[in-house]
Amino acid sequence: MDGRELVRSVWVFGRVRGLRAMRSVWRQRRADAVGLRPRGPERARVPGPVQGAEPLPGGGIVRFARSELRVWVSGGGTVFWGWDGAGPLPSYALAGEPPEPDARAVLEPDTDGGWRVVAERVTVAVSRNGAVEVRTPGGVVLRRELPPRWWEPVGGGPARWVQRSEVPADARFFGLGGRSSGPRLREGTYRLWNTDPRGAFGPGDDPLYITMPVQWVVSDAGTHLLFHDNPWEGQVSLREGEEGAGSGHDRPGASEVRMGGGPLRCWVVVGTPARVLHGWTQLTGAPAVPPSWALGPQHARWGFGSGEEVRRVVEGYRERGLPLSVLHLDIDHYDEHRVFSVDRERFPDLPGLAAELRERGVRLVSIVDPGVKAECGDPVYDAGRAVGARGAFVRDARGGEVRGVVWPGECVYPDFTDPEVREWWAGLYEERLAQGFSGVWHDMNEPVSFTPFGDMTLPRSARHALEGRGGDHREAHNVYGLAMARAGYEGLRRLRPEERPFLFSRSGWAGMQRYGGTWSGDVATGWPGLRASLSLVLGLGLCGVPYSGPDVGGFDGHPSPELYLRWFQLGAWLPLFRTHAAIDAGRREPWEFGPKVLEYARAALEERERLRPYFVTLARLARVTGAPYARPLWWGAPEDRALRGCEDAFLLGDALLVAPVLTRGTDRRAVRLPRGRWYDTVTGEAYEGPGQVLVDAPLSRIPVLARAGAVIPVRGEDGVDELEVWAPAQGRAGGGLVVRDVGDGWEHAEIERYATRWADGGVRVERVAEDGSVTVVGDGEGAAGVRVRLRGLGAG
Ligand code: GLC
Repeated sequence: MDGRELVRSVWVFGRVRGLRAMRSVWRQRRADAVGLRPRGPERARVPGPVQGAEPLPGGGIVRFARSELRVWVSGGGTVFWGWDGAGPLPSYALAGEPPEPDARAVLEPDTDGGWRVVAERVTVAVSRNGAVEVRTPGGVVLRRELPPRWWEPVGGGPARWVQRSEVPADARFFGLGGRSSGPRLREGTYRLWNTDPRGAFGPGDDPLYITMPVQWVVSDAGTHLLFHDNPWEGQVSLREGEEGAGSGHDRPGASEVRMGGGPLRCWVVVGTPARVLHGWTQLTGAPAVPPSWALGPQHARWGFGSGEEVRRVVEGYRERGLPLSVLHLDIDHYDEHRVFSVDRERFPDLPGLAAELRERGVRLVSIVDPGVKAECGDPVYDAGRAVGARGAFVRDARGGEVRGVVWPGECVYPDFTDPEVREWWAGLYEERLAQGFSGVWHDMNEPVSFTPFGDMTLPRSARHALEGRGGDHREAHNVYGLAMARAGYEGLRRLRPEERPFLFSRSGWAGMQRYGGTWSGDVATGWPGLRASLSLVLGLGLCGVPYSGPDVGGFDGHPSPELYLRWFQLGAWLPLFRTHAAIDAGRREPWEFGPKVLEYARAALEERERLRPYFVTLARLARVTGAPYARPLWWGAPEDRALRGCEDAFLLGDALLVAPVLTRGTDRRAVRLPRGRWYDTVTGEAYEGPGQVLVDAPLSRIPVLARAGAVIPVRGEDGVDELEVWAPAQGRAGGGLVVRDVGDGWEHAEIERYATRWADGGVRVERVAEDGSVTVVGDGEGAAGVRVRLRGLGAG
C-alpha cells in the first residue's frame, strides 16, 4: 500500500470500524483459497495454420488447426467474430437478438491462402495463421489483429488470452468506459475491473467505477469501435503510433487486450462517428430518455441531516430566485444506513416532505445501495433469504452467504445476475415510490466491500447465477451494476408504468444506457478533478452512455470560490447537472461562495433553464441516433487531426461548442474550432474555423459558441418556447432538429427538421416536412406557429 492509498484508507475507515473491515479481508482471502483452484501449469495455444472455410450467411467459419473463427457482417455493416466457435450470445451487453447477417456479404479466398468476407461497407480478411484485418471497401486497413494466444490450465479451468492489434500510426484511442485521464487515451495500461477508487480520485486514477472493453480508434483511414464482449477481469494496454515524417517508417499504434477468462469475441462498427454510435446503440440498446425534470438543475449532499435541513436548502434556492428541479437524499435518510428504510426521527414524514417539494417544482431522488444489512429482523434481509431455493444473496463456494462491509456494517449482496433476484429487488422500489421519491441513484454497486487494502469488492470465488449458467465473481463483477440497473429500471417501469424511470448508477457496463445514466462518482476537488470530470462524461458518451455529469464542486474538501464557479459553469452544460459533496466536505450551495459567485451561478442556472428545450431535444435524439449530448470536438470532422487532441472543449449537440475554463486565474482562453463559422453566443462575434482563436472567458461565464446556421430550441423570456437561429455564413445553409417536450411518459415525440439559408437579402428559416415540402417560419408566430429569434445577423 503506497502513501496515497494509506491516506485514502484512513479517509474511508474513519467511517467504518476498521476491525470489521480487517475481518472481512481475512474472510475474503480464505474464501478464495477454498473456492478458486490455483492456476497451476498452463498450456499455450495459437490458432495454427488454416485448414479450410465454410460459408454461412454474412460470412462463414474459418477453420484452423487448433481453433475456429466464426465471422460475419450484418446488414448495417457491423462485424462480428468469435474464436473457438464463440457466438454473440449469451451476452449482458446486447439489447436483444444479434443483428441479421448481410445476405450479400460473401466469403471468398484471399491472396495469401487466407479468407475474406467482402461486404458493402467493410471487408474482413482472415490470414492463413489467424490474423484478422478490418479494411474499408477501398482496401485501407483500419485495424489488424494478430493471431490470438490462449493459456489453458492443464488441470482444466478458464483459459486466459491475449489479443494484440495494430492501428494506423496517426490513430488516437478513446473510450474504455469512464476514464479520468482521457478523453484521448495515451500510452498506458487500463484495467477492466469496476472499482471504487477509495475516497476521491483525480486524473491519474485507474480503473474507476465503469470500465468497458469498448475501444474507439480515430484515424485518417476512418473511425471504428471495437468491443470485446467479455466482462471478465482484464486489461487493455495502448500505445499511440508515430509517423516517420516521410521516411516511410511509420510505427503503428498498438493495443493489447488481456482477459483472465471468457470468450474471445468482438464486434466492430466502422464509419463516421455518428454512424458508429448509431450502430453501437442498435447493438447494445437505445439510451433511456430521462424525464425532462432530470434535465434541470439538481442538488445533493451526503449529510443532509433532517427533513428540516432539506426544507432550508430548497427554501434557500427559492428565496434567491434560483431554479432547482431535483433534490437527492443520500444514505443519511436511511435508518442506520439500511437500504429501503427511513430514519423516522429525522425524516418523520417523507411522503409529506416530497409532496411539499413537488408543489414547489422540486422532485426527490433516493440513493439505493445494493448492500443489505446482514441481520435477522431486517425486513430486506429476511425477505431476501426467502427468495427462490437458495435465497437472494451471493454465496461462497461452500454455500455460505458472502459477507462484506458497507455503510450499515456487515452486509450481504443480492445476486442481480439471477432473474428471480432481480424480480424480487424490482418490487422493493414500491417502498421508495410510496415515500414520494421520483427516481433512484444507484451507488456502491461495483460492488463495494470496504477493506483496508486490496480490492474493495467481493471475493473472486463468490458464486453467481449468471442467468442460470453459473459462475463466479471473476465473470460477474463487471456486470453487477448493470444487472442491478436492469432490476431497478424494470421495477420502476412495472410499478409506475405511465412514467419514464429516472435512474442513474455509479457502476455499470456496456449496455447500461438501456436503463439510465451515471455520474462521475467521487471526483476530487481541485482543478485536476474538474478536468477529469469532463474526460469521464466524454468517454462514457462514446461508449453509448450519454447521460452523466460530475459532482459539481468536487466530492471532497473545500473548493475555492473560483473553482466552484468554473465547475458550476461546466456542469450547467452537461446532461446531469448536480452539485454534490461528501459529509465532511464544505457546503456546495451557490450562495456559500460570496455574492459574485452567486450572481454568476445564477446566470448559469438561468441559461440552463433557457436551454431546457435543447436538452430535451438532445435526450430524444440520443435515443434515436445514439449520439451523446456532449461530444468530442472531432465528432463531425474526425479527419481534422488537431481536433483529436483537443480535450478542453466539447460539442453540445450539433449546434454549440462549449469551452469551459479548466485552469485558475483565466479570463481568456484558446479555443480550437472545427471548420465553419462560429459565433460567441454572448458577444455575437463571429470566428472562422478550422483553427484556433482566443476568446474572452471572464469569471461571469465560460465561452459558448454557436455554429452558423444552427437552430436551437430555447425557452423564451415569457416562458414560451422559441427557436434561436444563428445566421448561416453568406451563401451557406444550415439547419437543425427539434424535438418538443411531450411529457414524462411514453408519448411518441416527433422530430422536426428545420433548414436555414439566405434568401432575398435575409435569413430564411423553413420547416421541412417528411415528404420534403417546406413551410417558411418567420419572426413572431410564423406560418408553422413557430417563434423564431434570429441572431448573428450583424456579424457580416
Ligand atoms: C459514495 C458515493 C457518494 C455518496 C457516498 C455516501 O461515496 O459515490 O456520492 O455520497 O457514497 O452514500
